[in-house]
Amino acid sequence: MGAATAARTAEFVFLCVPTPQGDGGAADLSFVEDVVREIAPVLRPGSVVINKSTVPVGSAAMVERLLAAAGVPAESIGVASNPEFLREGNAVRDFLEPRRVVIGCQDPEIAVRVSELYRSLQTPILVTDAASAELIKYASNAFLATKVSFINEIANLCEAVNADVREVALGMGYDPRIGFEFLHPGPGFGGSCLPKDVAALIHDSEQAGYDLRLLPSVADVNRLQHERIVGKIRGAVGGVLRGTRAGLWGLTFKANTDDVRDSPALAVASQLVAEGADVRAYDPVASEQHGLVTGLEVVADAYDACRDADVVVVLTEWDEFRWLDFDRVIDVMRTGRIVDARNLLDPAAMRRRGFAYQGLGR
Ligand code: UGA
Repeated sequence: MGAATAARTAEFVFLCVPTPQGDGGAADLSFVEDVVREIAPVLRPGSVVINKSTVPVGSAAMVERLLAAAGVPAESIGVASNPEFLREGNAVRDFLEPRRVVIGCQDPEIAVRVSELYRSLQTPILVTDAASAELIKYASNAFLATKVSFINEIANLCEAVNADVREVALGMGYDPRIGFEFLHPGPGFGGSCLPKDVAALIHDSEQAGYDLRLLPSVADVNRLQHERIVGKIRGAVGGVLRGTRAGLWGLTFKANTDDVRDSPALAVASQLVAEGADVRAYDPVASEQHGLVTGLEVVADAYDACRDADVVVVLTEWDEFRWLDFDRVIDVMRTGRIVDARNLLDPAAMRRRGFAYQGLGR
């Protein structure tokens, strides 16, 4: 119905617009700015503008400034930051069963009104200043990204010292200070959030005069992880990709989503194509309509993807890949080699079937 129509009679107005990666890694706030300008003339006195978009520190203050510039008296409209922590593919459940609700607002009366919206949820509600709420969102995603890069490095180390990263992660995870989650090695973190938010936090901290040391390494490890997977595939086919055929299983940035934005699978696919491999991919939901990688052929079933292939690569942890008929897979392949970049398959079972199998860190 248009933002202004939606906001006209509302007591609470949620801003849930995208904040894509802009120049130099900064979040592009143009959608936030446009929608605030659009709703400013129609906002009801006493209403609250609540920012749910992932926005840098200082954005609540920016919204207040834009409203003031549009002639809205500061005392008539409240502004709060209320970041979301929803995972793609699990958003409804994460919304209904959040681990916490964060409300960033200097005015206690407005903070209480916003927290009332979440009263029925059994979850801690944390009221902070706006800047802290905004940073909680970025720091949380950056920490998750750090965990993924950390376990990817440990997996690489496991290969060097003959350890098994699954055992290492399990043994670490029993310590509640560490926990089990986000300790699955893979081709790197992707999607529309973690890579963008890490870049934005690096950019914003530079602007604020603080030089973050850890996060640039987290981003570097992530990029190198794509290359490491390509290296494994290259090694599996004897050192040269040109003239070989690779079958890829999975293109989305993780399972149970149709999102291919910043997908590590596409980074791997484009490198394989660039090195002259003939690459065919299958994904349960992503198709060529997603405008994937030039030169990458997307087919409609997993067996077709590995027909006459020299190597097949698991890039997304879709459950259906576990249950394929692997006797048929090895039959249709030219040579039975698997690079399992998600540690999805059972190495012993694969080797028994005659595959040369490589996982990550085991
Ligand atoms: C992420 C956060 O998890 C949400 O809390 C946050 O609300 C959201 O970003 C957002 O900012 O909107 P999402 O982008 O859906 O959610 O993806 P994740 O489930 O966090 O996975 C991110 C990437 O890390 C994926 O590529 C995934 O495959 C990878 N990953 C995750 C691993 O490689 N290993 C793991 O152990 C976990």
